[in-house]
Amino acid sequence: MFDHDVLIIGAGLAGMRAALSAVEAGADVAVVTKVHPVRSHSNAAQGGINAALTDRGDDWREHAYDTIKGSDYLGDQDAIAVMCREAGDEVIAMEHMGVIFNRDDEGRLGTRAFGGQRQARTFFVSDFTGQALLHVLFEQVMKAGVRIYEEWFLLSLIVEDGECAGAVIMEIRSGEIHVVRSKTVIIASGGLGRVFEPSTNALICTGDGMSAAYQVGALLMDMEMVQYHPTTLKGSGVLITEGARGEGAYLLNSKGDRFMERYAPNMMELASRDVVSRAEQTEINEGRGIDGCVLLDVRHLGEAVINERLSQIREIGRDFANVDLLHEPIPIRPGMHYQMGGIKTDVDGQTEVPGLYAAGEAACVSVHGGNRLGANSLLDTLVFGRRSGEHAAEVAKSKGHGTTVSDASADGDRLNIQRLLDNDSSGEMFGKIRREMGDTMNEHLAVYREQNGMETALGELRGLRERYNNVVVPDKSKTFNTNLLFTLELGFMMDCAEAIALSAIERKESRGAHTRTDAPDRDDENWLRHILVKHTDDGPEVEYLPVVITDWEPQVRSY
Ligand code: FUM
Repeated sequence: MFDHDVLIIGAGLAGMRAALSAVEAGADVAVVTKVHPVRSHSNAAQGGINAALTDRGDDWREHAYDTIKGSDYLGDQDAIAVMCREAGDEVIAMEHMGVIFNRDDEGRLGTRAFGGQRQARTFFVSDFTGQALLHVLFEQVMKAGVRIYEEWFLLSLIVEDGECAGAVIMEIRSGEIHVVRSKTVIIASGGLGRVFEPSTNALICTGDGMSAAYQVGALLMDMEMVQYHPTTLKGSGVLITEGARGEGAYLLNSKGDRFMERYAPNMMELASRDVVSRAEQTEINEGRGIDGCVLLDVRHLGEAVINERLSQIREIGRDFANVDLLHEPIPIRPGMHYQMGGIKTDVDGQTEVPGLYAAGEAACVSVHGGNRLGANSLLDTLVFGRRSGEHAAEVAKSKGHGTTVSDASADGDRLNIQRLLDNDSSGEMFGKIRREMGDTMNEHLAVYREQNGMETALGELRGLRERYNNVVVPDKSKTFNTNLLFTLELGFMMDCAEAIALSAIERKESRGAHTRTDAPDRDDENWLRHILVKHTDDGPEVEYLPVVITDWEPQVRSY
């Protein structure tokens, strides 16, 4: 059994920022991660991080307003104010730690335009900003002496007398199962993108932490709000950064029209993501697409700009679609990218379970509401990663370890895994179930939704769950048993998929990314509220919570 003050699940930006602030607050901190820290999905973030710096004539209130409007008024305004107010200091802190941001002609930190914002306030490192931030934070975390359980897998959380008291984790190399006793635990395990197929997310984004927290009583909030990014590559679904449109790229249909003129005459290609994705999908559905896609044209930006600021997407285009965007437009379409919902937390990362925190994409502080602005995700990871690390460390320092947590706390997981390995029935392996789940979600819970389709999805998910209950794991070995790991991940994914489908069916209006063809209007009178999903022994239960409105009354949303 291991002991720590603060245990963090996940080593992406939220997890490592939390680790750093917790260690600075004097706690003994450990991070559990199923992959090497710099292979975390934060690595794939391309376009940048938002902050309104006053010396640029910007103001955090302007950023907050753009974020609230972007959220289609579902974001909690008190939380959004915290994020936007603290953004500038966070970006500067990262610069001081060693992130080499792009600079402008005067040598100051440079910005680029991003969707849904009236100011260019996105700070960036070419088109690999997440990678740059992640590597610098990893250096800092190593320097601070944080213990990293690298390639260890979360099995479950331990709750004792109503408080989170640690986690059960498996060493992937040996298959050994251990208990970590911890005074506080922070879930920073990222998103659930692979519940959908395709997705811009790494294969590791399987909602592990969301599901584990849900199983012990944390609430899942706004799960129906799934972001389809407007520019994902034909075929593989790899992200092609919004930074391209920020630099001036156009979207074209099969007739060569810049169709965004008809959908968002003011902001054009830089309208909010939900707006651009709907426009693209409408063009495709009405026959003005090309083989299920529209085109992103960056050619007019020229070789120098492309090579300096968009080099990674040029490489992605060449490697994955055989298209050199210097010479031809690139085929793209809306694709699953981000989960706005997640584990409900306050602005210090606290969940409904005392001692259990969440930050980053796993969490729903409610700063993205119905639609996240591009480049607010990196900001969310850093601001709320830091805040939850600080808070969890202070709480941990003020309390002793629980007494009944022992190695026996892992017995339930040991038994479950043994039962899984002992199942020699004629059941199937995880792969087909995972694929069918992804296809179902992408068919019925994508850019446009309607009641029958969503109910079909929920029915299919329940059928898949029954098949999963008899899943077999032919590989019985202990060492690097990826067959077992992928099977366990699928269990986490199924909880998340069910919560998404249930919440989407529940919301009887269109708002942000949740666009129902059978209820096309926003309905503030009845639905200016969050949907929460709670785990019970009899299945998921739905609850509601009013949206926090402070200074910005809901308005008609146009771009
Ligand atoms: O398009 C992008 O670079 C993605 C950024 C984001 O999701 O924040």
